[in-house]
Formats: sequence, C-alpha cells, structure tokens
Amino acid sequence: MKTREKYPRNTPMTKPLPVRKAVLPVAGMGTRFLPATKAVPKEMLPVVDKPVVQYAVEEAMEAGIEQFIFVTGRGKHVIEDHFDHAYELEALLRERDKTKELDSLLESLPKSGSVSFTRQQKPLGLGHAVWCARHFIGDEPFAVLLPDDLILGKPGALKQMMKAYHDVGGGAVIAAEERPESEISRYGVIAPGKIVGNIIEVKGVVEKPKIKEAPSRLRIVGRYILPSEIFAELDRKEKGAGGEIQLTDSMQKLIGRHPFHAVNVKGSWYDCGDKVGFLHANIAVGLARPDIAPALRAILKSVGT
Ligand code: G1P
Repeated sequence: MKTREKYPRNTPMTKPLPVRKAVLPVAGMGTRFLPATKAVPKEMLPVVDKPVVQYAVEEAMEAGIEQFIFVTGRGKHVIEDHFDHAYELEALLRERDKTKELDSLLESLPKSGSVSFTRQQKPLGLGHAVWCARHFIGDEPFAVLLPDDLILGKPGALKQMMKAYHDVGGGAVIAAEERPESEISRYGVIAPGKIVGNIIEVKGVVEKPKIKEAPSRLRIVGRYILPSEIFAELDRKEKGAGGEIQLTDSMQKLIGRHPFHAVNVKGSWYDCGDKVGFLHANIAVGLARPDIAPALRAILKSVGT
C-alpha cells in the first residue's frame, strides 16, 4: 500500500558519498535493427535529430555526473567521435553564422578528459559489461545508464534517483516502472517491501522470471546507482538467465548488506532497443518539439491515426 509518508531527509547518520561517475554499456550488436546497424551502432540511431545515446549522456549531466565510462565493442568508434569536438564542422558553422546549430553541438559535449572508453571484448552479459568498467570506478558509488531505455522526465530519471539516494542515505537505488503481467518476463523484476511515496524498499530482484514466478509487476528500468561493492560480486562471473552474467544477480547479493531502494520514476519511457518502441520515441519527441509538432501531427492525421 502506498502511503503519503515521506522519507525524512538528511536523517541518516552519515552523508552518502557523491555519485560522480556513470557507466554506459554500449557494446550490444543491435541485431534487432539490422540492416541499419550493420555499420552504425544502434546507440547512434537518431530519435528525431539526436542519437539515442546522447539522451542518456544529457540525463547523466543533468544529474551531476562528471565522468562517463562507455563500455564499447568493435565498430563503436563513432560514439567516441560523437562525444568529441568536430573542428572542421564547428569552424564551418561559425563561418556561416549558424550559432544555434553550433551551440547545440557544444552544449552537450562532456568536458575534456571526462569521457573514457573500454571494450567489453566478449558479449557475456550486462553484468560483465559493467564489470569491465571496474578500474575506472574504483571504490566509489556510480551510476549505470542503459541508453536503450529512453526516459523523458522533468527532472530526468537519474536526477530523481539522486534525490532518492540522498533521502534514503545512499546504498543502491534503481529505477522501477509498472508493466503489464504479460511483459514482465522480458525484464529484471523487483520484490517490493515498504513503499513510501515513490520510493520502494527492494527485498529482492530476479532477472527475466517466468510470469508465474515474478514477484511483482515492477520491472527494473535501465538506470542504476550502485555501490562499488557490486564488483566483488560481478568478479565471480556467475551465469544467470540466458546463460549471461547478469547485473541483477549481483544486485540481489547486495540486498541485506546495503540499503536497497527503487524509485518509481516520473516520466515517459521508451524502449529504443525495440523497433516499435523506437518509432514511438521518435513520434513522442517530435510531438513535443514546437518546430516539428504541427507538421508531424498533420502527417499522423493523414495516415489515419
Ligand atoms: C537489462 C537488465 C534488466 C532490465 C532491462 C532494462 O535487460 O538485465 O534487468 O530490466 O535491461 O531495460 P536487457 O534489456 O539487456 O535484456
């Protein structure tokens, strides 16, 4: 049962460590989007005019993240180029007084030295991808953002989670969303405890359970704040659902040892790893853009929606 009670702010004994680093796993092959993703990483597919991965980076920047660690694979080098200056292009825009375009390129560029790349080398699962970033993270808490999950919220999902992280006194904080029972087996699922406002105590997490075994209809969304102790669990490289090293399985091991909460994030969520979800994101973002919305609305009407 939801209550109107609020988590008391700043009551924890110690102030939680700041979350300064984010891991973005982007090594997936994008087979669901072939042939588009044969030579172009799926994270670079645009939602209107911005690559999917840039939405995640901007969300992380808004939440105060200072360092970005991309876990990549072969053929993903254009992601590196995207988060770097493009001198010729910038000079051309400057020369032609295209200030708006130039500003939009520059404002979302992370600072020099704040972006790192490491390769996953083998597609062994999300847990393995996160583990590959361990030397960049060291012993501080960190965020993980899965760019396929595009979340449009004000404030953004990670910023909402950061607030919860401080309110509950640190530990692990993941994003949650209620889904219909028929979809729940596609995701990591949460066994909820006490619910206060939009903060849910997490009593368990299970990756891709059968419908009958799912502890709830609350699925894990691809946003996490995790303590560095997760690496000791990931180090074991135990295989879980689908024969992959699952992040969810290592998170389960933290429960009881670290405060563990989920936040029912406010916002619209789109699964950009799925064709229909990706098209949905394009339509929704387009309709929210004053420069595009009128023409797009007319087109949608003309095709009979
Ligand atoms: C991953 C996680 C899963 C989570 C999902 C969110 O699954 O393993 O727990 O619910 O992301 O998008 P994947 O999409 O890699 O199958």
